[in-house]
Amino acid sequence: MDVKEAIMTRRAYRSFVPVTINGDLVDDLAGCAGLAPSCNNFQPWRFVFVYGPPALEKLHEALSEGNRWAKDASLIIAAFARRQDDCTLPGRDYFLLDVGMAVAFIILRATELGLVAHSIAGYDEKKAKQALGIPDDMLLITLINVGKHTTELKPYFSENQIKGEQGRPPRKSIGEYTFIDRYTG
Ligand SMILES: Cc1cc2nc3c(=O)[nH]c(=O)nc-3n(C[C@H](O)[C@H](O)[C@H](O)COP(=O)(O)O)c2cc1C
Repeated sequence: MDVKEAIMTRRAYRSFVPVTINGDLVDDLAGCAGLAPSCNNFQPWRFVFVYGPPALEKLHEALSEGNRWAKDASLIIAAFARRQDDCTLPGRDYFLLDVGMAVAFIILRATELGLVAHSIAGYDEKKAKQALGIPDDMLLITLINVGKHTTELKPYFSENQIKGEQGRPPRKSIGEYTFIDRYTG
């Protein structure tokens, strides 16, 4: 699978069947994340790969109700960072961009491996950080839910979630966010 194909294949699916997670997969995904570019090569990203059943169960308590589907993920990757561990130029902090790029690398590599990697923001940050031992001064930016996709529609899926399983949510047209030579929005 080439990069374009991974980009076209990737979807934020919510219906998973269990998949075996091992140290090789963790090393593979973490290794890909670590090759992402970052400002001054500061590499601000930190990850906890959660796949032990007791640790997963504890983390599930932090999920928002709308994200109960994530309890079927075999692996949840917590991505977190500290603002001051990356470039902080006047009015411009780069840690979110850099962690986002590393997360994108994880998502694309997981896609290439035939997995779904679905990043979410819907969780209680305090509870999730407590469950994972992440210090207060770090920002838990996202939880990436990894599993094997199935077409089964869970009885608790909302209408939107059913739609999301059946097709990609619509995107803006290129002209709405792309400009040539000068911004004219
Ligand atoms: C930062 C971020 C936060 C998200 N939070 C949630 C979430 O809490 N729950 C959820 O079901 N999906 C979440 N999503 C997934 C988006 O809803 C999804 O990517 C979007 O609808 C586009 O669908 P697609 O990725 O399948 O193309 C999130 C995605 C991102 C990047």
